[in-house]
Amino acid sequence: MDKLNQNIRPRRLRKSAAIRDMVQENHIGIQDLIAPLFVVDGKGVKEGISSMPGYYRYSLDLQLEKLKIWVDAGLRSALLFVKVEEDLKDNTGKASWDENGLMQKAIQSIKSEFPELCLMTDVALDPYSSYGHDGIVREGEIVNDETVEALIKMGLSHAKAGADFLAPSDMMDGRVGAIRKALDAAGYTGVGIMSYAAKYASCFYGPFRDALDSAPGFGDKKTYQMNPANKKEALREIELDIQEGADILMVKPGMPYLDVVHMVKEHADLPVAAYQVSGEYAMIKAAGERGWLNEKQAMHESLLAFKRAGADLIATYFIDDFINI
Ligand code: PBG
Repeated sequence: MDKLNQNIRPRRLRKSAAIRDMVQENHIGIQDLIAPLFVVDGKGVKEGISSMPGYYRYSLDLQLEKLKIWVDAGLRSALLFVKVEEDLKDNTGKASWDENGLMQKAIQSIKSEFPELCLMTDVALDPYSSYGHDGIVREGEIVNDETVEALIKMGLSHAKAGADFLAPSDMMDGRVGAIRKALDAAGYTGVGIMSYAAKYASCFYGPFRDALDSAPGFGDKKTYQMNPANKKEALREIELDIQEGADILMVKPGMPYLDVVHMVKEHADLPVAAYQVSGEYAMIKAAGERGWLNEKQAMHESLLAFKRAGADLIATYFIDDFINI
């Protein structure tokens, strides 16, 4: 074999751990992560979710204990969801703006315990909907504008309870602008909006719907969530949310949509968040449990991939695993 005459050798930069660390392009830290929280009513409750091993629904008292561990480890932000009792669900979702509701009480106590934490709250009707849809149902349709009115009331009640950011995850048209306007009119100019700007109709939400008992009772969410085959449409959604006053743009799901994350980062000068959703977590956990993947490494690599694609923030269920690396 002829001697290789090669003076350009990229492997020189991979020769030792020291040089690899020195030239590493992307890093992931706890400050990049957003912890989703699933809060249930009661006291002393810790419920496993079979499709999300290692993740739990907690009553508020235990959620605060868990959060303390995470905040002590440097966590800066959490995204709050609640599991709503069956008898509080209806087609209007009116329990979602009850000032004494579980969500509102949870916001108050989390913020009084952890004033420095950036607390974000899910704004969508599905956990409160007797149909498991993100909107009000009329003759089998998810009606847009009436739903937006409900989301405004819900969002205002979160702001009043002390939320730092509202995270509308419903994909109704015009909801970011309407919520922004209502917040400003009520004096909550400092409360931000992290919009699920490009949210796809994805099967990867399955475990989450188990966690919150929020699977649609009929049909699917394809008349409001986006078609997984579309990319340009994401730009349109992003543009609208920017015009309507969003502060942070979210893409969801995460890993199967890294091309969208990258495109959004290139196009927008707002911070971009990506949501590593329940099904993505479940896949890595399941393969890890079987010994088919090294779970810790898969987790770390997947989180780095989000950063490489351009995500500034990542919502992920891997907080415990990340802290315990
Ligand atoms: C619903 C909502 C969903 C998720 C966050 N908010 C599910 C859905 O749209 O049906 C999914 C999160 C996850 O899968 O981790 N408003």
